[in-house]
Amino acid sequence: MKSIKENIEQLRDTIRYHDRKYYVENNPEITDYEYDQLVKELQQFEKTYPHLIVPDSPTQRVGGEPLTQFSTVEHKIPMLSIDNTYSDNELEEFDQRIKRMAGIDGHRNIEYVVELKIDGVAIALWYEKGLFVRGATRGDGFKGDDVTANLRTIHQIPLKLQPAEKQQIPSAIEIRGEIYLSNKEFQRLNEEREEAGESQFANPRNAAAGTLKLLDPRVTAKRHLRVFAYAIGYLEDFELETHMKCLELIRGFGLPVNPHTRLCESIGEAIQYCNEWGKKRNDLDYMIDGIVIKVNSLSLHEQLGATSKAPRWVISYKYQPEQAVTKIEEIVAQVGKTGTITPVANLSPVLLAGTMVSRATLHNFEEISRKDIRMGDPVVVQKAGEIIPQVVSVVKEKRNGTERIFQEPTVCPECKSAVRREGVYLRCHNPFCHAQAKRRIQYFASRHAMDIEGFGPALVDQLVDKGFLKDYADIYCLKHPDLENLERMGKKSSSNLIRAIEESKQRNLERLICALGIHNVGVHTAEVLSEHFDSLDALAHATQEKLEGIYEIGPVVARSIIEFFHDRHTQSIIEKLKTAGVNTRKQTIPASEKNSKISGKSFVITGTLQKYPRKEAEMIIKHQGGRILSQVSKKTDYLVVGEDPGAKLDKARELHVQILDEEAFEKMIK
Ligand code: IVH
Repeated sequence: MKSIKENIEQLRDTIRYHDRKYYVENNPEITDYEYDQLVKELQQFEKTYPHLIVPDSPTQRVGGEPLTQFSTVEHKIPMLSIDNTYSDNELEEFDQRIKRMAGIDGHRNIEYVVELKIDGVAIALWYEKGLFVRGATRGDGFKGDDVTANLRTIHQIPLKLQPAEKQQIPSAIEIRGEIYLSNKEFQRLNEEREEAGESQFANPRNAAAGTLKLLDPRVTAKRHLRVFAYAIGYLEDFELETHMKCLELIRGFGLPVNPHTRLCESIGEAIQYCNEWGKKRNDLDYMIDGIVIKVNSLSLHEQLGATSKAPRWVISYKYQPEQAVTKIEEIVAQVGKTGTITPVANLSPVLLAGTMVSRATLHNFEEISRKDIRMGDPVVVQKAGEIIPQVVSVVKEKRNGTERIFQEPTVCPECKSAVRREGVYLRCHNPFCHAQAKRRIQYFASRHAMDIEGFGPALVDQLVDKGFLKDYADIYCLKHPDLENLERMGKKSSSNLIRAIEESKQRNLERLICALGIHNVGVHTAEVLSEHFDSLDALAHATQEKLEGIYEIGPVVARSIIEFFHDRHTQSIIEKLKTAGVNTRKQTIPASEKNSKISGKSFVITGTLQKYPRKEAEMIIKHQGGRILSQVSKKTDYLVVGEDPGAKLDKARELHVQILDEEAFEKMIK
């Protein structure tokens, strides 16, 4: 019979195994539900036998109390930087230089490993006897910050190395890598911050750096940082010959190594790789700012050595951020659904990183004065790390004297009530502000929320201005005559609209929670909440404690939810929704409505579909009982392919995953 201790450790190993499958290999073998059950079982054991809790238990990722400051760690081996190049020629020169220094015949080829240069934050991870003991930022290269508590929250970082059978574990190893945020997570985070009236991160790198420097690991845990390991800084007990072998070792221990890493026979091949990725880099879900080219042979590394700044066996090929020059036609102040007023530049349309751009964010009013941005200005716009283009600078020498200075508003551009400054933001505090009401109603009806077809911004504006809508519950009181007399609205479109409104009453709980427009609660949080509550009433009565007990909900979000439902105005709106017959309960899909071709199957989508926006296609699949995965793996049943598919298509072909074009997909869902 196994002892309790052995049983617990076996359960931990099972969870560690599934963590790796899910977080590192993108290839889950069990459902989220089954996984949660395993974790619950472990938590129960650990509650009963607290003396058996160990720091590397999968339950011990998020520590208790926030730190007051980070301590400093001295790097055993300095973390140097890399020399940059910007052209193919410079890479040829790099290759020639190496051959000269190492006394290699100019005609012989050197092997290089080429890797994507992830635009994030460098870190060093220390493992002793296989256990993760410390992680530090690069700092000045010699000393960095001890950010262990934050790194422990990253599921991709094993708290205990996971060697394959018979593989030895080094008594000490330092693994180096890059912490980053996916574009999707960056966008979600910024949306959440905008809702909360907090300043936005300029790009995923800043967001990752900011997150790694948070003193409260509980907040870090909610931001889903990721890692790619790319080198070994220090290693005991092993003799390795090549950099590729180092990467294989790290991958074998369970850390993610970038799958696009390639071994090249010559510098020519490496240059080709750089050029290929220059075209493809926008397909990735994370930012890269170049390619890192490393000599494969470790004995050559030793022979070449380093300058005081950078090793001589490595170089980076940097991509220029994509920029364009255009003109600011106008600067407008926009009122968000919670009253935050932000400036936006309307641009003369210009092609940037493959898309036409006609608007750029100006973040806040301070930024306008700091950069002295005026209406009519010729400006450089850039899409570097960020998704929404930014105004980088004004081309002052091209001004012609007709430019106009933008006056920061002192009153709300819509309701004219005085605005208040909150940090770098301006906010309209009038709860009856029409602009806010319009934004809230638009959001309620939008595709991510109640998805009322035909209920667009122009219609909402008219209905609010004419006094038919004061809040979103009024949508369900609209009658034919109210609609028929509006601009560009006939009998037919009015009937269609009434039908769409009627249909939306049956949306699921998750959409309704999202649609309410609670501060800090977007699509994802709404999904999480709907998993934990059976009805809107149950959510409305939840205590702060209960909400904070949910894995992805922190104190700030919990407070927003409580405040929202305590508001008398909100309560009366919710009553109106219920009276109108809007569904406020969780529904389970009746077996009869499940689509047998889709139910239980997992789908990945790549490229642009013509008839279905990505979110909508995902919703349809989920609705019919299917699952959405972000990466193609052996477990993927179908890859749905739109126009301009990304690397996922190659991967799917490689793994013989069934591929559906849009037509086939449509047939399947109908
Ligand atoms: S190797 C001495 N490999 O780029 C060589 N660095 O500009 C150590 N980076 O500080 C770095 N992806 O933060 C290496 N595949 C990769 C990388 C990478 C991103 C970052 C790293 C480094 C910076 C240098």
